[in-house]
Amino acid sequence: MRKPYVAGNWKMNKTIPECVTLAIELREKLPKDTKAAVAVIPQFLALPKVAEVLRGSAIGVGAQDVYFEKNGAFTGEISCEMLKDAGAAFALVGHSERRHVIGETDAIVRKKLEALLKSGLEVILCIGEKLEEREAGKTQERLSIQTRAGLEGLAKADLAGVTLAYEPVWAIGTGKTASTAQAEEAHQFIRGLVEELFDKSVAQSLRIQYGGSVKADNAAELMGQPNVDGALVGGASLVADSFLGIVKGA
Ligand code: PGA
Repeated sequence: MRKPYVAGNWKMNKTIPECVTLAIELREKLPKDTKAAVAVIPQFLALPKVAEVLRGSAIGVGAQDVYFEKNGAFTGEISCEMLKDAGAAFALVGHSERRHVIGETDAIVRKKLEALLKSGLEVILCIGEKLEEREAGKTQERLSIQTRAGLEGLAKADLAGVTLAYEPVWAIGTGKTASTAQAEEAHQFIRGLVEELFDKSVAQSLRIQYGGSVKADNAAELMGQPNVDGALVGGASLVADSFLGIVKGA
Protein backbone atom coordinates (compact mmCIF):
# COMPACT_ATOMS: atom_id res chain seq x y z
CA MET A 1 0.00 0.00 0.00
CA ARG A 2 1.40 3.41 -0.95
CA LYS A 3 1.28 5.94 1.85
CA PRO A 4 -0.34 9.18 0.66
CA TYR A 5 2.02 12.12 0.42
CA VAL A 6 0.85 15.73 0.63
CA ALA A 7 3.37 18.51 0.05
CA GLY A 8 2.77 22.25 0.21
CA ASN A 9 4.75 24.27 -2.32
CA TRP A 10 4.80 27.81 -0.97
CA LYS A 11 6.45 29.11 -4.16
CA MET A 12 7.74 32.71 -4.08
CA ASN A 13 5.48 33.70 -1.21
CA LYS A 14 5.99 34.78 2.39
CA THR A 15 8.88 36.43 4.19
CA ILE A 16 11.11 34.42 6.52
CA PRO A 17 9.04 35.30 9.64
CA GLU A 18 5.82 34.48 7.77
CA CYS A 19 7.19 31.07 6.76
CA VAL A 20 8.22 30.39 10.36
CA THR A 21 4.77 31.36 11.65
CA LEU A 22 3.06 29.03 9.18
CA ALA A 23 5.46 26.18 10.01
CA ILE A 24 4.78 26.58 13.74
CA GLU A 25 1.04 26.60 13.14
CA LEU A 26 1.22 23.45 11.04
CA ARG A 27 3.42 21.72 13.59
CA GLU A 28 0.95 22.55 16.33
CA LYS A 29 -2.22 21.73 14.45
CA LEU A 30 -1.25 18.59 12.52
CA PRO A 31 -3.31 15.80 14.10
CA LYS A 32 -1.20 13.06 15.69
CA ASP A 33 -3.11 10.33 13.86
CA THR A 34 -2.41 11.79 10.38
CA LYS A 35 -1.99 8.94 7.92
CA ALA A 36 -0.34 10.86 5.11
CA ALA A 37 3.29 11.89 4.83
CA VAL A 38 3.32 15.70 4.96
CA ALA A 39 5.94 18.19 3.80
CA VAL A 40 6.36 21.88 3.12
CA ILE A 41 8.49 23.60 0.52
CA PRO A 42 9.39 27.18 1.49
CA GLN A 43 11.50 29.71 -0.40
CA PHE A 44 15.27 29.08 -0.08
CA LEU A 45 16.04 31.82 2.44
CA ALA A 46 13.41 30.57 4.90
CA LEU A 47 14.44 26.94 4.56
CA PRO A 48 16.93 26.73 7.47
CA LYS A 49 14.50 28.35 9.91
CA VAL A 50 11.53 26.28 8.76
CA ALA A 51 13.64 23.12 9.00
CA GLU A 52 14.62 24.10 12.54
CA VAL A 53 10.99 24.65 13.55
CA LEU A 54 9.91 21.32 12.07
CA ARG A 55 12.85 19.21 13.24
CA GLY A 56 11.54 16.18 15.13
CA SER A 57 7.97 16.81 13.90
CA ALA A 58 6.07 14.69 11.39
CA ILE A 59 6.41 17.39 8.72
CA GLY A 60 9.24 17.15 6.19
CA VAL A 61 10.96 20.09 4.51
CA GLY A 62 12.08 20.39 0.92
CA ALA A 63 13.36 22.95 -1.57
CA GLN A 64 11.65 24.29 -4.69
CA ASP A 65 14.63 23.78 -6.95
CA VAL A 66 18.36 22.98 -6.99
CA TYR A 67 21.31 23.28 -9.33
CA PHE A 68 23.15 20.15 -10.44
CA GLU A 69 26.75 21.35 -10.08
CA LYS A 70 28.54 20.90 -6.75
CA ASN A 71 30.01 24.39 -6.37
CA GLY A 72 31.83 27.07 -8.30
CA ALA A 73 31.04 29.85 -10.71
CA PHE A 74 27.25 29.46 -10.98
CA THR A 75 26.00 32.81 -9.77
CA GLY A 76 22.63 32.65 -8.12
CA GLU A 77 22.42 28.87 -7.89
CA ILE A 78 22.14 26.52 -4.89
CA SER A 79 23.72 23.05 -4.75
CA CYS A 80 22.47 19.79 -3.26
CA GLU A 81 24.96 19.99 -0.39
CA MET A 82 23.79 23.52 0.39
CA LEU A 83 20.21 22.27 0.54
CA LYS A 84 21.22 19.47 2.88
CA ASP A 85 23.12 21.93 5.01
CA ALA A 86 19.99 24.09 5.22
CA GLY A 87 17.91 21.12 6.40
CA ALA A 88 16.11 20.06 3.23
CA ALA A 89 15.34 16.37 2.75
CA PHE A 90 14.17 16.66 -0.85
CA ALA A 91 13.67 19.07 -3.74
CA LEU A 92 11.19 19.59 -6.52
CA VAL A 93 12.51 19.34 -10.06
CA GLY A 94 10.77 20.29 -13.27
CA HIS A 95 7.97 22.29 -11.73
CA SER A 96 5.92 23.73 -14.59
CA GLU A 97 6.82 27.27 -13.56
CA ARG A 98 10.50 26.39 -13.95
CA ARG A 99 9.86 24.67 -17.25
CA HIS A 100 7.57 27.29 -18.76
CA VAL A 101 8.49 30.56 -17.05
CA ILE A 102 12.24 30.04 -16.58
CA GLY A 103 12.70 27.82 -19.64
CA GLU A 104 14.13 24.68 -18.05
CA THR A 105 14.50 21.75 -20.43
CA ASP A 106 13.99 18.04 -19.81
CA ALA A 107 17.77 17.60 -19.97
CA ILE A 108 18.34 20.11 -17.15
CA VAL A 109 15.58 18.54 -15.09
CA ARG A 110 17.26 15.15 -15.47
CA LYS A 111 20.64 16.48 -14.35
CA LYS A 112 19.05 18.00 -11.27
CA LEU A 113 17.25 14.78 -10.43
CA GLU A 114 20.45 12.74 -10.72
CA ALA A 115 22.43 15.22 -8.61
CA LEU A 116 19.82 15.06 -5.86
CA LEU A 117 19.70 11.26 -5.76
CA LYS A 118 23.48 11.09 -5.76
CA SER A 119 23.66 13.36 -2.77
CA GLY A 120 21.07 11.34 -0.87
CA LEU A 121 18.19 13.78 -1.21
CA GLU A 122 14.77 12.72 -2.40
CA VAL A 123 13.05 14.18 -5.43
CA ILE A 124 9.58 15.20 -6.51
CA LEU A 125 9.66 15.18 -10.31
CA CYS A 126 6.87 17.32 -11.75
CA ILE A 127 5.38 16.58 -15.15
CA GLY A 128 2.28 17.76 -16.96
CA GLU A 129 0.81 18.86 -20.26
CA LYS A 130 -0.15 22.36 -21.35
CA LEU A 131 -3.70 23.20 -22.33
CA GLU A 132 -2.93 23.23 -26.05
CA GLU A 133 -1.34 19.79 -25.75
CA ARG A 134 -4.42 18.40 -23.99
CA GLU A 135 -6.70 19.96 -26.60
CA ALA A 136 -4.58 18.51 -29.42
CA GLY A 137 -4.83 15.02 -27.86
CA LYS A 138 -1.14 15.08 -26.96
CA THR A 139 -1.38 14.65 -23.18
CA GLN A 140 0.04 11.13 -23.11
CA GLU A 141 2.78 12.03 -25.56
CA ARG A 142 3.94 14.92 -23.34
CA LEU A 143 3.74 12.81 -20.16
CA SER A 144 5.67 10.07 -21.85
CA ILE A 145 8.44 12.42 -23.03
CA GLN A 146 8.81 14.02 -19.59
CA THR A 147 8.66 10.75 -17.66
CA ARG A 148 11.19 9.04 -19.91
CA ALA A 149 13.53 12.03 -19.87
CA GLY A 150 13.35 12.08 -16.09
CA LEU A 151 13.58 8.40 -15.26
CA GLU A 152 14.71 6.17 -18.13
CA GLY A 153 17.97 4.40 -17.36
CA LEU A 154 17.97 5.02 -13.60
CA ALA A 155 18.65 2.02 -11.36
CA LYS A 156 15.49 0.48 -9.93
CA ALA A 157 16.75 1.22 -6.43
CA ASP A 158 16.94 4.94 -7.27
CA LEU A 159 13.19 5.05 -7.72
CA ALA A 160 12.74 4.64 -3.97
CA GLY A 161 13.87 8.26 -3.66
CA VAL A 162 11.52 9.58 -6.34
CA THR A 163 7.92 10.80 -6.19
CA LEU A 164 6.20 11.94 -9.36
CA ALA A 165 3.78 14.83 -9.41
CA TYR A 166 1.30 15.00 -12.26
CA GLU A 167 0.42 18.67 -12.64
CA PRO A 168 -1.55 19.64 -15.73
CA VAL A 169 -0.20 23.11 -16.47
CA TRP A 170 -3.70 24.44 -17.21
CA ALA A 171 -4.82 23.51 -13.69
CA ILE A 172 -2.01 25.21 -11.76
CA GLY A 173 -3.13 28.34 -9.95
CA THR A 174 -6.13 28.69 -12.26
CA GLY A 175 -8.84 27.28 -10.03
CA LYS A 176 -9.47 24.65 -12.74
CA THR A 177 -8.88 21.20 -11.34
CA ALA A 178 -8.60 18.13 -13.51
CA SER A 179 -11.68 15.99 -13.04
CA THR A 180 -11.09 12.88 -10.98
CA ALA A 181 -11.42 10.87 -14.18
CA GLN A 182 -8.83 13.01 -16.00
CA ALA A 183 -6.44 12.74 -13.05
CA GLU A 184 -6.88 9.00 -12.64
CA GLU A 185 -6.46 8.41 -16.37
CA ALA A 186 -3.17 10.34 -16.44
CA HIS A 187 -1.88 8.68 -13.28
CA GLN A 188 -2.75 5.25 -14.62
CA PHE A 189 -0.92 6.06 -17.84
CA ILE A 190 2.17 7.27 -15.98
CA ARG A 191 2.23 4.19 -13.73
CA GLY A 192 1.96 1.96 -16.80
CA LEU A 193 4.87 3.76 -18.39
CA VAL A 194 6.99 3.33 -15.25
CA GLU A 195 6.16 -0.37 -15.30
CA GLU A 196 7.36 -0.50 -18.90
CA LEU A 197 10.59 1.34 -18.02
CA PHE A 198 11.30 -0.65 -14.83
CA ASP A 199 8.97 -3.34 -13.55
CA LYS A 200 5.65 -3.90 -11.85
CA SER A 201 6.96 -3.66 -8.32
CA VAL A 202 8.72 -0.34 -8.97
CA ALA A 203 5.55 0.99 -10.63
CA GLN A 204 3.34 -0.19 -7.79
CA SER A 205 5.46 1.39 -5.07
CA LEU A 206 6.01 4.72 -6.87
CA ARG A 207 3.97 7.55 -5.42
CA ILE A 208 2.27 9.85 -7.91
CA GLN A 209 0.88 13.08 -6.50
CA TYR A 210 -1.70 15.18 -8.27
CA GLY A 211 -1.20 18.95 -8.39
CA GLY A 212 -3.23 21.82 -9.79
CA SER A 213 -5.79 23.80 -7.77
CA VAL A 214 -6.14 21.14 -5.08
CA LYS A 215 -8.36 22.49 -2.29
CA ALA A 216 -9.81 21.03 0.89
CA ASP A 217 -13.12 20.43 -0.89
CA ASN A 218 -11.76 18.43 -3.84
CA ALA A 219 -8.78 16.74 -2.17
CA ALA A 220 -10.50 13.66 -0.77
CA GLU A 221 -12.15 12.79 -4.07
CA LEU A 222 -8.95 13.25 -6.07
CA MET A 223 -6.82 11.31 -3.63
CA GLY A 224 -9.52 8.65 -3.43
CA GLN A 225 -8.62 7.55 -6.97
CA PRO A 226 -6.67 4.29 -7.01
CA ASN A 227 -3.59 5.79 -8.70
CA VAL A 228 -3.56 9.22 -7.03
CA ASP A 229 -1.25 8.98 -4.03
CA GLY A 230 -1.36 12.46 -2.62
CA ALA A 231 -1.17 16.06 -3.66
CA LEU A 232 1.30 18.81 -4.47
CA VAL A 233 -0.47 21.92 -3.30
CA GLY A 234 0.35 25.52 -4.18
CA GLY A 235 -2.10 28.28 -3.28
CA ALA A 236 -4.08 26.30 -0.73
CA SER A 237 -0.92 25.43 1.21
CA LEU A 238 -0.32 29.07 2.20
CA VAL A 239 -2.92 28.96 4.97
CA ALA A 240 -2.56 26.32 7.70
CA ASP A 241 -6.23 25.39 7.95
CA SER A 242 -6.76 24.98 4.23
CA PHE A 243 -3.59 22.88 3.88
CA LEU A 244 -4.56 20.73 6.85
CA GLY A 245 -8.01 20.29 5.30
CA ILE A 246 -6.28 18.75 2.28
CA VAL A 247 -4.06 16.57 4.48
CA LYS A 248 -7.21 15.32 6.19
CA GLY A 249 -8.60 14.27 2.81
CA ALA A 250 -5.62 11.98 2.14
P1 PGA B 1 -1.81 25.37 -7.18
O1 PGA B 1 -0.28 25.00 -7.49
O2 PGA B 1 -2.27 24.40 -6.09
O3 PGA B 1 -1.79 26.79 -6.70
O4 PGA B 1 -2.58 25.18 -8.44
C1 PGA B 1 0.13 23.67 -7.58
C2 PGA B 1 1.60 23.60 -7.89
O5 PGA B 1 2.08 24.41 -8.68
O6 PGA B 1 2.34 22.75 -7.35
